[in-house]
Amino acid sequence: MADFRTSARSAPISHCATEISEVFQSMKKKLVLIATALGCILPAAATDSKAAAATPPMGWNSWNHFACKVTAADIRSAADAIASNGMKDAGYIYVNIDDCWQGVRDEKGRIHPNQKFGDMKALADYVHAKGLKIGIYSSPGPKTCAGYEGSYGHEELDAQQYADWGFDYLKYDWCSAEKVYQSSQMAEVYKKMHDALVRTGRPIFFSLCQYGYGRVWRWGASVGGNLWRTTEDITDHYDRMSVIGFDQDGLEQFAGPGHWNDPDMLEVGNGGMNHNEYVTHMSLWALLAAPLLAGNDLSSMTPETLGILTNRELIAIDQDTKGVQGRRIAQEGPLEVWAKALADGSVAVGLFNRGESANPITLSFKDIGVQGLAKVRDLWKGKDVGSFSESYTEEVPRHGAVLIRVQ
Ligand code: GLA
Repeated sequence: MADFRTSARSAPISHCATEISEVFQSMKKKLVLIATALGCILPAAATDSKAAAATPPMGWNSWNHFACKVTAADIRSAADAIASNGMKDAGYIYVNIDDCWQGVRDEKGRIHPNQKFGDMKALADYVHAKGLKIGIYSSPGPKTCAGYEGSYGHEELDAQQYADWGFDYLKYDWCSAEKVYQSSQMAEVYKKMHDALVRTGRPIFFSLCQYGYGRVWRWGASVGGNLWRTTEDITDHYDRMSVIGFDQDGLEQFAGPGHWNDPDMLEVGNGGMNHNEYVTHMSLWALLAAPLLAGNDLSSMTPETLGILTNRELIAIDQDTKGVQGRRIAQEGPLEVWAKALADGSVAVGLFNRGESANPITLSFKDIGVQGLAKVRDLWKGKDVGSFSESYTEEVPRHGAVLIRVQ
């Protein structure tokens, strides 16, 4: 399969200066968070899709498990599963087709699906009938990353086609666009599709995928992005997932209601990580206010996987209406403490052990601006563990995580 992406990584993260102590002290005074206050974010384009992105998107995407083998039947069975296994009730709404659905264009330039997909309108109707939404995928280049037909030169037609079929979400993946555009044109290229989507009159969630090039977090919102990938692709391995996830520190000021950083889709349940590693994956993604897009085969999932994906208390952290992306507040070697301020004044805290053996990890309450006694609830155990003063310590397994809510 052709892969049109460059291997170059984006420039090192740099961001507006923000002192973490200010952030957590300001929570107490009920001041509005960092990002907008510091004026770091470009004004977001006003689109209806902004409302759909008030909290990070939740759903499923075909790529991580099915890749190019995906068929319409797989999409239908994913929708069936979400609607019936508790995922929909937990907030998973989007059923997203990734690459490899495309066929050829007709003489009028209209894109048609390939034989594995058939009638796209019927597929969208099927997903909608379950009370879910449906997403599609394209590239601004002539070809997608897997070598299928891209939208280059057909942006208006494609946007209208997606709207006519009834799609609610577009992932727009740079891929071969590097062959026809300069990287300096990236923002205008994404804006072109955004404007075409807006002209359809249908609210379509706009997900930018260009692996973080050009510090997309600085301009993604200004071209109408509701979400932008900040990294190259995730894989179903602890090393890759953890490097991506723990590298997100510093990007928090660019995320907020309507526009989110995207450290890529979930691998939970795909089999390449153990239970504790998937707990780390979910805990970190929730603290990061990352999209929760499951990437496993939902039609044959273990109760353990479903339990990880549908932990309501964890999802509430991800979907918290304050819209804050958490950040690292303490680190000692492989032991890390991350925190995320929540709308009710409490703080979600992750204790992460990236090391090779179990270790106790301590949260110092002063690091989150808490004085005196604080109530602690363990969100994976689903129980209040008591009231503590000054600090809270828990043993964390190798590659594992503890997620608590401190009030
Ligand atoms: C790129 C993206 C992936 C996936 C594939 C499809 O690698 O980053 O998420 O969409 O393309 O080809």
